Amino acid sequence: MSSFTDAVARRRTFAIISHPDAGKTTITEKLLLLGQLIQVAGTVKGKKSDRHATSDWMSMEQERGISVTSSVMQFPYKERMVNLLDTPGHEDFSEDTYRTLTAVDSALMVIDGAKGVEDRTIKLMNVCRLRDTPILSFVNKMDRDIRDPIELLDEVESVLGIAAAPINWPMGMGSEFKGVYNLYTDTLHVFKPGQNKVIAEDIQINGLESEEAKNLLGDMHEDFIDEIELVRGASHEFDLEAYREGKLTPVFFGTALANFGVREMLDGFVEWAPAPLPRATENRQVEATEEKFSGFVFKIQANMDPRHRDRIAFLRICSGKYTKGLKMRHVRLGKDVKIADAVSFVAGDRELVEEAMSGDIIGLHNHGTIQLGDTFTEGEELKFTGIPHFAPELFKRIRLRDPMKSKQLQKGLQQLAEEGSTQVFMPLNNSDLIVGAVGVLQFEVVAYRLKDEYKVEAIYEPVNVHTVRWVECKDAKKLEEFKRKCSDNLALDGGGHLTYLAPTRVNLQLTQERYPDIEFFSTREH
Ligand code: G4P
Repeated sequence: MSSFTDAVARRRTFAIISHPDAGKTTITEKLLLLGQLIQVAGTVKGKKSDRHATSDWMSMEQERGISVTSSVMQFPYKERMVNLLDTPGHEDFSEDTYRTLTAVDSALMVIDGAKGVEDRTIKLMNVCRLRDTPILSFVNKMDRDIRDPIELLDEVESVLGIAAAPINWPMGMGSEFKGVYNLYTDTLHVFKPGQNKVIAEDIQINGLESEEAKNLLGDMHEDFIDEIELVRGASHEFDLEAYREGKLTPVFFGTALANFGVREMLDGFVEWAPAPLPRATENRQVEATEEKFSGFVFKIQANMDPRHRDRIAFLRICSGKYTKGLKMRHVRLGKDVKIADAVSFVAGDRELVEEAMSGDIIGLHNHGTIQLGDTFTEGEELKFTGIPHFAPELFKRIRLRDPMKSKQLQKGLQQLAEEGSTQVFMPLNNSDLIVGAVGVLQFEVVAYRLKDEYKVEAIYEPVNVHTVRWVECKDAKKLEEFKRKCSDNLALDGGGHLTYLAPTRVNLQLTQERYPDIEFFSTREH
């Protein structure tokens, strides 16, 4: 193996999917500790105490500190190079969260053991399913009285439609939590409280039948052996292929806060998670080990740092290597550009990247020429697919304070839509402008940026839209009829594509039943 293919094979690029408060930030912190990016836990920002409850977007950006909110974290672990992409999850939940999942090779699902599968997780899981992304699971908060672990795994299987294979099993919970038992190595990993902030000592006992195990578990020992027998009989066995195909999730138990079980999970992760996978383009499949550079833009972020008031395009490298000064082809524009100032985000501050390769994320300075989904190559005319728009879930009508500025408003919205900050819809039958978003903060960001960058003051009003679907029909006549009959619900999106705005879920369902020849899509490719 060449050193390049070897380095690519060692890369693991992933994101965390979870419902707010399940423990994503806490786990991230422990991962960074294990990856030695930080020395002491508790130094990472992004915890609730400094989370922006304020609606002032700029000050929110200014407050953003190291690591957790810095979008992409890279750290070496056990001869692997791990890239963890941040998936904004609280007030900053947005379409970017979904799109980030198109740029990873696998995901870690964090479940609050007391709460089970929650709705944000279901949504994010649906996005993962579009590409059958492999999912590894961590059931968190074992230091509390959680739900019956068997019931939790059943819920994962029935609600998320994925087989669950426990790798380890919790020995007790809450104040009785003793650690986890590895079902495959017959090893007990012993929980020792009070090691929250440093890399915890790894205390192991070999064999569930050993004297040490009996001593550790005391009265629980017999019951635990029965429980393990039951678990082995009732649960799926780990199968690497099924995991890689997104059909089975290996499950680890632990407590991120008390810093236990994260290491076992990370060990499994670096072992099983896929190295950078091949990616589809309109023309052919691109292998990560190809020597020529290629990549696509999955996120554009404005004003990340008030000292540099520009936009950064996040590019996932799909093949080859970026080295400073690389001549890249901006395929959509048919233009060659020499890039010497790509950045990484490792420690909050941007750093110039000297070298990056398949699986890594680099930031390109964007002065308005880069759009979501854009492909960059070393010359080949490729277009990566699988970086869609996702149907917004929240809608508002946007109106100007000063009606004379409608041109600026249109232009601003158009550009913000191209960046993925929002989506806009223009109904066929009236002159409304409807803004669609996935997270509430997106509306505020859009209003702020319209004022700041386009000098228009806009206000929002409620609008009766529940969801949107892009519509297509192969039969032109049937499409015409549909357009005639449903025109009150139809709109064009920012790219001029026909969409159906449904006031309720039931309305959408009825419309789909009434017009079986019309196709309704919840995503749209760029
Ligand atoms: P998130 O990023 O997924 O939203 O979750 P985050 O890590 O911020 O955790 C949400 C809350 O759950 C935090 O408490 C955190 O301390 C707690 N937590 C995380 N992991 C565990 C665990 O293993 N056990 C227990 N008992 N709690 C856990 P908070 O009080 O909301 O915030 P903070 O003041 O501790 O930051």
